[in-house]
Amino acid sequence: MNSETLSITPDAPNAFLDVSLRPPMFEEFTGQARTLERLQLLVEAATQRGEPLQHILLSGPPGLGKTTLAHILGHAMGAEVKTTSGPAIEKAGDLAGLLTTMPQGGILFIDEIHRLQPVIEEYLYPAMEDYCVDIMIDQGPNARSVRLNLARFTLIGATTRAGMISSPLRSRFGMNCRLDYYQSEELQKIVQRTAKLLGVTIDEEGSLEIARRSRGTPRIANNLLRWVRDYAQVRTHSVVDKASASNALAMLEIDEEGFDEMDKRILEGIIYKFGGGPVGLHSLAVAVGEEPGTLEEVHEPYLIMQGYLQRTPQGRIATAKVYQKLGLPMPKK
Ligand SMILES: Nc1ncnc2c1ncn2[C@@H]1O[C@H](COP(=O)(O)OP(=O)(O)OP(=O)(O)O)[C@@H](O)[C@H]1O
Ligand SMILES: [Mg+2]
Repeated sequence: MNSETLSITPDAPNAFLDVSLRPPMFEEFTGQARTLERLQLLVEAATQRGEPLQHILLSGPPGLGKTTLAHILGHAMGAEVKTTSGPAIEKAGDLAGLLTTMPQGGILFIDEIHRLQPVIEEYLYPAMEDYCVDIMIDQGPNARSVRLNLARFTLIGATTRAGMISSPLRSRFGMNCRLDYYQSEELQKIVQRTAKLLGVTIDEEGSLEIARRSRGTPRIANNLLRWVRDYAQVRTHSVVDKASASNALAMLEIDEEGFDEMDKRILEGIIYKFGGGPVGLHSLAVAVGEEPGTLEEVHEPYLIMQGYLQRTPQGRIATAKVYQKLGLPMPKK
């Protein structure tokens, strides 16, 4: 990934910004209406019964609010949230340490849960289902396993690759929420909220312009707003409006649809280097100079959702929309 696109790609969060801009409560969280309604109902039911929440899996592309929702759930339940991630848990002992110190009703948030090693995943099953873990003590001939009971905790898993979660793990979550890309109007509200927090004055059209070009992703919207703020501060010295937002984004080579340099490289690559496809993921990744995983997780979902790309068993295919966008005639097949 080159440095120019780095600041706006959804997998490059600014940790400080994420913490301070994250809505702390359901009421401040915009969009994802159906998911939000389900989660609020779960919280209400669990609170009424005085029980911990059931295990919840949150999936969807980067930057849509999975981590944010996990913290909102913690806040709503008045529960402590312990955070870790799939690749950070290297040994079963690491997980045992976390689980045995969970308080009653506490929330364990495992980010990138699809990257848990299979042995660790299996270790998680009895913990999720029966609230117990088996721990090995001693070594050699004296080695024996001891079963420890755990407090009733809630596991919240987040993943950008729902398809990579094994079905035994998936079935142990009581609720499976898939986050979708946001509508422009929703992103506009998010931009306006962030502008307030950052002390940026922005008009209706300026915020809509940023929203429309944010690839349906709140994290990108927030990052673009920061860039537009810098641009306005240095170049126009005034309120952020449509013109300054548009000029600032043009400087980042983000086009009308919010496509950035990498999106354009992907679409042009398929057309010019592979005759419109089908092209395999790995060949495409080499051609555009990106990791296959990043391509699949970060860049492709939005292009597919917008109808520019199709995934077929033979490979990726550019649709008629790409030819229109690039001003090329559709090839006769
Ligand atoms: N619905 C929303 N309303 C307001 N801000 C949001 C919303 N969703 C996400 N954000 C903002 O977008 C940023 C990214 O959200 P978050 O970190 O929760 O995404 P994520 O899905 O966990 O991404 P990743 O897969 O990369 O971990 C946060 O800083 C948060 O401020
Ligand atoms: Mg996250």
